Amino acid sequence: MSNKKILVLPGDGIGNEVMAEVLNIIDWLSKTRSMSFDMSERLVGGTAYDKEGDSISDSTMQEALDSDAVLFGAVGGPQWDNVERNKRPEAALLRLRKELDLFANLRPAVVLDALSESSSLKLDLVKGLDILIVRELTSGVYFGQPRGISKISDTESKAIDTQVYTTSEIERVSRVAFELAKLRRNKVSSAEKSNVMETGLFWRNIVTDLHKNEYASVELEHILADNCAMQLVRYPKQFDVILTDNLFGDLLSDTAAMLTGSLGMLPSASLGPVKANGTRAAMYEPVHGSAPDIAGQSKANPLAMIMSFAMMLKYSFDMEEDSKLIEKAVQNVLLKGLRTADIKDGADKIISTKEMGVAVIEELKVLSGN
Ligand code: IPM
Ligand code: MG
Repeated sequence: MSNKKILVLPGDGIGNEVMAEVLNIIDWLSKTRSMSFDMSERLVGGTAYDKEGDSISDSTMQEALDSDAVLFGAVGGPQWDNVERNKRPEAALLRLRKELDLFANLRPAVVLDALSESSSLKLDLVKGLDILIVRELTSGVYFGQPRGISKISDTESKAIDTQVYTTSEIERVSRVAFELAKLRRNKVSSAEKSNVMETGLFWRNIVTDLHKNEYASVELEHILADNCAMQLVRYPKQFDVILTDNLFGDLLSDTAAMLTGSLGMLPSASLGPVKANGTRAAMYEPVHGSAPDIAGQSKANPLAMIMSFAMMLKYSFDMEEDSKLIEKAVQNVLLKGLRTADIKDGADKIISTKEMGVAVIEELKVLSGN
């Protein structure tokens, strides 16, 4: 069998630092656990704009299409604030999502025992929390046409974004949510604004029908997206899987992320349709951004990037055991009290990005007896 092809896109800001720690882990895994990957690395985001004239070049896009999975760091920074929209760092992310057809964005918000004190919510509200947000990622108002800003008179202009969803777009992401719920606590909360939006009512109807026809054994609730935001901070443990569109998913996943106390801890997976040969395009990235304020100082927490790689092993390569090993190593490192600055919470010694990466590898050695 040919090696799995991974495209590495570290991007901007802390993307490079956190990715470096994952590459060390991959190196270690390939030496000790007889797994081998074909790795290639390309520029993306503002760094690519500066060197290649676009935030993602056509050849990098092609490389992504030819890979089994993409490992993505983070993009963006104030120095690119005035770049034209279609060449901005974020445009690379949207292009990757669209051209790889990564319609299902999985954003787990898990509170690890070692970090339950880091949340801004009371301990009993978040201890043991384990929510999964399934966000539609390739349609909705981020992609709908028409869009743009135009003049309507000498003194007035207008801006248009279009929220649009088709039956199949809603069905395919809903299937992912229902299937994942079956492996968890068997509940899906579908969030929309059916009280005011046509797309919201449409979303609700499609999810209702799909549930009735294919997933009646899964508990389904419909919840208005604003109420969902409120419930997330009131009593988050009521949720298992939250299914929602692109825009609401962007907002709700940031809220859910903060429940855990650190954005620096959260991984994500973006999955495409299953192809005839059983594989699916996939991209894995930490939920945190490029954090330009701390870039280059080895302060960033590499654990979200490392856990994103663990998700890659699980969802793209069926390597559940290795994926669990990495998760366990991360948990043990935290249980030992090792902390980067973002999760310090009273810890007396703060370690660097590099030291955290090394600590995870040391723990992997202990756990695997290597
Ligand atoms: C996210 C980010 C992106 C989004 C930006 C960077 C385009 O906020 O992945 O949540 O809005 O989807
Ligand atoms: Mg976001």
